[in-house]
Amino acid sequence: MTEQHPRTQAVRAGIATDPAHGAVVPPVFMSTTYAFSGFGEPGEFDYSRSGNPTRSTLASAIADLEGGAGGVVTASGMAAITATVLALLPPDGTLVAPFDAYGGSWRLFDALERSGRLRLRLVDLSDAAAREELDGADVVWLETPSNPLLRVTDIAAVSEAAHAAGALVVADNTFASPVVQRPLEHGADVVVHSATKYLNGHSDVVSGAVVAASEERVAHLAWWANTLGVTGGALDAYLTLRGLRTLHLRMAAAQVNAAAVVDLLTAHPAVTAVHYPGLASHPQHELAARTMDGFGAIVTFDVGGQDAVRALVDGLDCFCLAESLGGVESLVSHPATMTHAAMPPQVQAAAGITPGMLRLSLGVEDASDLVADLRAGLDRARSAQGGLPSTELRG
Ligand SMILES: Cc1ncc(COP(=O)(O)O)c(C=O)c1O
Repeated sequence: MTEQHPRTQAVRAGIATDPAHGAVVPPVFMSTTYAFSGFGEPGEFDYSRSGNPTRSTLASAIADLEGGAGGVVTASGMAAITATVLALLPPDGTLVAPFDAYGGSWRLFDALERSGRLRLRLVDLSDAAAREELDGADVVWLETPSNPLLRVTDIAAVSEAAHAAGALVVADNTFASPVVQRPLEHGADVVVHSATKYLNGHSDVVSGAVVAASEERVAHLAWWANTLGVTGGALDAYLTLRGLRTLHLRMAAAQVNAAAVVDLLTAHPAVTAVHYPGLASHPQHELAARTMDGFGAIVTFDVGGQDAVRALVDGLDCFCLAESLGGVESLVSHPATMTHAAMPPQVQAAAGITPGMLRLSLGVEDASDLVADLRAGLDRARSAQGGLPSTELRG
């Protein structure tokens, strides 16, 4: 059979593969243990921490979407990141990571460094000069687009420099999803995901995934995930697989909404800055246009200070003030006090995170409702700034 389109692969993952009853949707296998067919004759699965049919179907589906040799599904994105760091870094190894990494990743890397388990170097990997600083690195960690400033890193250029320095490249592809970007195609060795976000897409499962380009590395990562005990549960895998079937539809709808919201933000006087790779003014717009299939559905903007933030978010109807992203429902978060609160103020400042910054995760509601709700919030922010609401300005 010819290679199927990723959209088809996502919809059809595991469909009509049940030999027992011909179930079209693959059943969820809750059993923790599997009977040997005879003494010394285990089947493909023996114990559910080590291997589970539902989890295995999901891992293959995610690996197919990322173009990898295979994958491992974990209990959370942080479980995927922990297993990956422990599997790939030698003792006392050097990890180069983005200075604006997800707060939880930063906290893990920082804690491992403080306890003497690794050496951490934080750099701005979206800056070409940072590629000169990879000597001595064992693993180079990428997050692109980055959180929350949506800086875009040249995966191919970093991978080339990292490989020349003898380092492996891991890309956290949570923000883009494999619909928008496939880091392995650009030279990364490993991709990690918080599957809690776009892959599941319904804000009802905490899950993670690791995909590697080579079968040997997949086996190595699977060994570590099993040994650490961080593999994911069967029911979570079942739900994530259900969510994954609509990933392409959800990403398309959410990106249309992101574009509509960006139009509003760039025109509104309450907004002091908009960060979105789709904007021609974004510092890496050309790179994003060349290497990504779309610009994603996260939009970050600034309203200048916390009073304006409060006025904006208190009263929104279509955006929940909540951490996380990538669900069908739109969310707004305040990185300085929420997702990145683990970072001390000086680390936040170095990463460009400001008190007036808000991050939107666009869902799949109708764009007109999102724009109207946000416009009203921006008008409130404008009043809090002491300016005229945009409705009056428009005259
Ligand atoms: C980019 C990124 N990576 C990893 C994680 C961690 O994932 P989880 O919350 O599923 O452990 C998150 C969570 O927000 C994230 O945004």
